[in-house]
Amino acid sequence: MQVFVILPAAGIGTRMAAGGTHTAVPKQFLEIDGVPVLIRSVKAFLAVKRVDAVCIAVRGPERARVEAHVTAHKLGPRVHMVEGGDHRQESVGNALAALECHPDDVVLVHDAVRPLIDPATIERTIDAVAKHGAAIVGLPAVDTIKQVERTAEGAIVTATIPRELIIHAQTPQGALCKLMRRAFAEAEADGFAGTDEASLLERAGIEVAVVPGSARNFKITQPGDIELAEFYLRRSTTDSRG
Ligand code: C5P
Repeated sequence: MQVFVILPAAGIGTRMAAGGTHTAVPKQFLEIDGVPVLIRSVKAFLAVKRVDAVCIAVRGPERARVEAHVTAHKLGPRVHMVEGGDHRQESVGNALAALECHPDDVVLVHDAVRPLIDPATIERTIDAVAKHGAAIVGLPAVDTIKQVERTAEGAIVTATIPRELIIHAQTPQGALCKLMRRAFAEAEADGFAGTDEASLLERAGIEVAVVPGSARNFKITQPGDIELAEFYLRRSTTDSRG
């Protein structure tokens, strides 16, 4: 059984800057203590020996920049690249089509903008996919969750959803190659667009197990998130020094 990882990194980071305009630098290329977010994500997966290949989906114009980083950080022959698409699902779909995976190999998909994923969680996700067929990393909800109706002025609460029924979906999200490909093919045939892989797997009738996530594995999304990531990193360095 081989393990393949897809890192969609073709976003343009429209939510990062205030006012709806996107930053000149997409968030996967912003640096955390001098290392680009994307490179940190790649390194986390390369640290797991069982990972056979990492496939990064990038925009054509950014390919040379990513190749330069891959060389500079000596990431080695396990790293590959494909062309990204206009939406995350398309970027992942392009990579999935390019993988030379066998039906029972494991495919994990991880947001390139979640650079603090730890090797132990990656290992647990691989094990869960091998055991259940499909699995995602999820964080239990701690806030009380409300269902709302959007209004011109904001929103009105319509119901309270018991939080024990809720998890926040993170990544990695994975499945056996044959199940991931089936879910993507069915979504494409039906014109379904989801914001994660689990939504495609679920609608294909595939049961998806949940592996515990952590607050550290957050998605770099808004101004201040780079500082938050640096804070987590410094804290773990201090912790490991005892
Ligand atoms: O936009 P969002 O935060 O959901 O992006 C999650 C991940 O998907 C990011 O790593 C981003 O680079 C990637 N993405 C992509 N292709 C797109 C849009 C987003 O690979 N067209």
